[in-house]
Amino acid sequence: MSVNKHTAPSAQDQFDDATSRQLEAVYLTPDVVEQREKIMTLLAVRSGEKALDIGCGPGLTTLALAQATGASGEVSGVDIAEPMLAIARKRCAVYANVRFTTADVTALPYEDDSFDIALATQVYEYVEQVDQALKELARVVKPGGRVLIVDTDWESAVWASQDDVRMRKVIETWNTHIPHPQLPRDLKLRMQQAGFKEVRVEVVPLVNTSYDAQTYSVGMMTMLGNFAIGRNGITEQDVTEWKADARLMGEQQRYFFSLNRYVFLGEK
Ligand SMILES: C[S@@+](CC[C@H](N)C(=O)[O-])C[C@H]1O[C@@H](n2cnc3c(N)ncnc32)[C@H](O)[C@@H]1O
Repeated sequence: MSVNKHTAPSAQDQFDDATSRQLEAVYLTPDVVEQREKIMTLLAVRSGEKALDIGCGPGLTTLALAQATGASGEVSGVDIAEPMLAIARKRCAVYANVRFTTADVTALPYEDDSFDIALATQVYEYVEQVDQALKELARVVKPGGRVLIVDTDWESAVWASQDDVRMRKVIETWNTHIPHPQLPRDLKLRMQQAGFKEVRVEVVPLVNTSYDAQTYSVGMMTMLGNFAIGRNGITEQDVTEWKADARLMGEQQRYFFSLNRYVFLGEK
C-alpha cells in the first residue's frame, strides 16, 4: 500500500483558517450533504446514545450526531486543528450535550468503553500511525458498540478532461497531501486486526455532470489546485489551464466527475 511518509504535510499545517473554511464550504454542497445523510442512515443512530466524532473538522457530522442522539444523548468531537474546532464549536453552540476537545486521534482523551457509536469520516487517511488510531478507537468504544469509517481512494476518480495527462498529474500530486491515499484497500483487514468484527464495506459515489460551483468536484478544484502549485513540476499556469479546461467542458455539456467514498462499518 502506498504511504507518503515524507511528503504529506501535517493536519495542523493543512487545516489553517482559510483551508478549514474552504473545506467547510465544500462539505456544505448538496453532494456532501447527501453523502452525510447516507452515512447517518448506515450508522442508524438511536436516541440517547453516546457518540464520538473523530477528526470532527467543521462539526457537520457532530451536528448530525447531536440531532440523532437527541437531548438524552451525548456527543463528543475531537480534532487536532484549532481552526476546525473553532468552526465546529460555533456550529454546535446551541447543543448543551456536545463537547469538543483538542487531541490527536492516536491518543484519545477518553476512558475505555465510553461510546455506543463512533465515526471518523475522511480522517484516518491523514494519520500516519493509522493502526494506533484504530487501536484507540477500539479502546474507547463499548463492547458491542458500532463504528463507521469513511476514506477515499482518488484512483477511483473519473474526471473528464481534454488533457488527461495533466488531470492525472494533479490527482497524483493531491495523493501526496496524506500519508495513506489508498487506505480503503486494506482498511477492512486493519479494522479486524484492531479487534472489530462484522466489518462490511459500502460505497457512496459522488457524481457531477455539470460545472457548478455548488458541487463537490468544482469546490475541490481550489484545494487540489492550491496544493499542486509548486509540487511535482506543476506551475500556477498549469493549474489555471486545468481549471479553464474544466469550465470549458462544462460549457460544452461534457463535464463529468465521479469519485467513490468507501464506508466501513464494524462492531467491537
Ligand atoms: C477532511 S477533514 C474531515 C472532517 C470531518 N470528519 C468531516 O467529514 O466533515 C479531516 C479532519 O481530520 C483532522 N485530523 C487529521 N489528522 C488528525 C489527527 N492525527 N488527530 C486529530 N484530528 C486529525 C483534521 O484536522 C481535519 O479536521
